[in-house]
Amino acid sequence: MAKCVNKENMVLPSLKEARLRRNFKTETIKYSVIDKYAHLGDGKSYYIYTYGCQGNEADSEIMAGILESIGYKKAIDPLEADLVLLNTCAVRENAEQRIWGVLGQLKGRKRNHPDMIIGICGCMPQEENATQKLIESYPFVDLIFGTHNRGNLPKLIYQAYFTKEKAVEVLSTEGNILEGAPKVRDNKFKAWVHIMYGCDEFCTYCIVPYTRGRERSRAKEDILAEVNELVKEGYKEITLLGQNVNAYGKDLGNDYTFGDLLRDIDKTGIERVRFTSPHPRDMDENAISAMAECKSVMPHLHFPVQSGNDRVLKIMNRKYTREEYLYKIKRLKEEIPGISITTDIIVGYPGETREEFNDTLTLVEEAGFEGAFTFIYSKREGTPAAKMEDPISDSEKHKWFDELKKAVDKGYLRGTERFVGEVVEVLVDGESKSDLGMMSGYSKHNKLTHFKSNDKSLIGKIVKVKVKEAKSWFMIGDLVE
Ligand code: SAH
Ligand code: SF4
Ligand code: F3S
Repeated sequence: MAKCVNKENMVLPSLKEARLRRNFKTETIKYSVIDKYAHLGDGKSYYIYTYGCQGNEADSEIMAGILESIGYKKAIDPLEADLVLLNTCAVRENAEQRIWGVLGQLKGRKRNHPDMIIGICGCMPQEENATQKLIESYPFVDLIFGTHNRGNLPKLIYQAYFTKEKAVEVLSTEGNILEGAPKVRDNKFKAWVHIMYGCDEFCTYCIVPYTRGRERSRAKEDILAEVNELVKEGYKEITLLGQNVNAYGKDLGNDYTFGDLLRDIDKTGIERVRFTSPHPRDMDENAISAMAECKSVMPHLHFPVQSGNDRVLKIMNRKYTREEYLYKIKRLKEEIPGISITTDIIVGYPGETREEFNDTLTLVEEAGFEGAFTFIYSKREGTPAAKMEDPISDSEKHKWFDELKKAVDKGYLRGTERFVGEVVEVLVDGESKSDLGMMSGYSKHNKLTHFKSNDKSLIGKIVKVKVKEAKSWFMIGDLVE
């Protein structure tokens, strides 16, 4: 495997390498740790800051598991930790700005606590520019590693402690699957389950295929074993993760698809199944009918559209048209009556015109979205869109963005109002953050629901709530005995 190694033995990222999709078989690597590292963390504490998507949250749980297996304990106060990891996101410029800010704070902390180890991992180090800047301008960062080598964490920490050298290992073309690594899950009744890694879509604005490598599916036996274990441990809800979950299995070369996986997961007896994110092009009839037939699959779909205009969709390389997208929505609504659909939308893609943006506004209404993550296009070095002409000013893009938010907000309210007077099933997360004496959780349709109670024994249970009031971001109701 080609690796870009410099004279300090650093393995540096290469976006050019990351773009390649070589035709080799995915290797599944069983996690193990050698004796030399087994007690590296004894008596020491760690803290992981996690940014970005659910994939990163799941990765942080693995890193926490690895650290605890070699003796580290989680620090209560991040600034007191002996080892601090920043698990980063590179999807938009502002995600990166936050990291530089946190690094500034940690720099001061390290001055008073020189033995502290600071590590940066996740998607940002996969970018050449970011890693270069980290090496040149952030000498107090001890560890830099990417998304493909979490399993090497003990080795990298050892290097940072005992050789006092900066440990930099960012692989660009590796695309293996790590199985069997320990995990410390953040939640006792809701769990993340990766079903695939990487992305081969190469939407022209997006850095993810470069930071996460090629698309690779976990073996269905490993996924089902994990879900069975979660059921045994009393977990109520799982969220299946992947950049393109409904492309599951395409790389495995058999006929077993995402819909088949949903059906097998349903049989494990897990109560609730969610998944994120599906690609509209890959939402096939088998997946739709599995969603309809499996009681455990929740009637909410996050279905990223990005734009409502065909020319923009084409230059984004999304591989579907507005009409095709709307047809899939129609089929989903026919098969899963009452399904709630949310989406992701990008405003101000290079060259997008006002008329084209209007098509996105009308799509929000036509699709009946009940929520959307909306983003202003952010230029990502190394992607094709970064080279395109971008004549629309930032202030104009902000105006469009505000208009879009208004349209989307109407959908949020429409999505909660339809439940007033209905009884919904809520998986209780805990006490409401904003209102004392209230508990809250999410309904099947993924609506945040508050109800009067201070019975903490309800946490992690599914209760019935009669909805009496609807707001844009939540619903309020009463417990039904
Ligand atoms: N794999 C998922 C989404 C991954 S990134 C999918 O395809 O649906 C999450 C969202 O970030 C994307 O859906 C997109 O709306 C947004 N995004 C990605 N790159 C972006 C960029 N360069 N600028 C602005 N938004 C971006
Ligand atoms: Fe990015 Fe497109 Fe892949 Fe989603 S499908 S991660 S938007 S390249
Ligand atoms: Fe961000 Fe990487 Fe996820 S870029 S959105 S953390 S895949």
